[in-house]
Amino acid sequence: MKIYAAKDYNDMSRKAANIISAQILLKPDAVLGLATGSTPVGAYRQLIEKHEAGDLDFSRIHSVNLDEYKGLSGDHDQSYRYFMNHNLFDHVNIDKANTNVPNGLAEDPEAECKRYNHVIEEEGGIDLQLLGIGNNGHIGFNEPCDVFEKGTHVVTLTEETRQSNARFFTSIDEVPTHALTMGVGNIMSAKKVLLLASGEGKAKALYESCFGPVTPQVPASVLQLHSDVVVIADEAALSLIRKNTGWEDMIYDN
Ligand code: GLP
Repeated sequence: MKIYAAKDYNDMSRKAANIISAQILLKPDAVLGLATGSTPVGAYRQLIEKHEAGDLDFSRIHSVNLDEYKGLSGDHDQSYRYFMNHNLFDHVNIDKANTNVPNGLAEDPEAECKRYNHVIEEEGGIDLQLLGIGNNGHIGFNEPCDVFEKGTHVVTLTEETRQSNARFFTSIDEVPTHALTMGVGNIMSAKKVLLLASGEGKAKALYESCFGPVTPQVPASVLQLHSDVVVIADEAALSLIRKNTGWEDMIYDN
């Protein structure tokens, strides 16, 4: 695991966009695992700028998103399909037929999860998986629990996650109670993982994920077992690591 320090959110976003761009330049038909939430928005903005400047071509890129709320259609402005269209896909030359997000309206969610695992397999696996992190250490919507779930599955969202995502909805009652999410196994199968974290609210989750025990109670901690993980975190998110670990030399400052 390599941890890169960023001054602030913009710096984190710039560094992340550079790594994603490098992946696209090195493999123009790469499969990108994409994430939602406020964390990756700045990186997506920078990718759009690079595309507009003529430096980045998405025409052969395929994507698989981590998760989707159960019960929201792709037109709902809080669905993750809508988020991806709005924050990235509508602004670059990606073929939307090559973009995948679980179907939150599937009549048979279990069958949809199986289909989604199959999609990831058919795509040939994920080259670069982008991740944010929840305040409780969740990745995708893999909430703290007793076992790591391997494949795409339906989850019951924790009250904490619903509360923290309520800021995007008009009230907490509108936040779905369930979601479809890639499993930890899907994420761990990615060739490379890029985890972003910004703000003090993420400091504890980041510290525990990078330096605590590997446990499904802190889902992101499993990343310690992946051979190619890059973490880019701003100073606020790094604050507990800086204070507690004594592993300063594991942090790349640049
Ligand atoms: C959601 C998403 C995650 C995301 C997390 C953090 O629950 N399912 O993929 O990483 O929120 O969101 P934010 O980046 O807004 O803090």
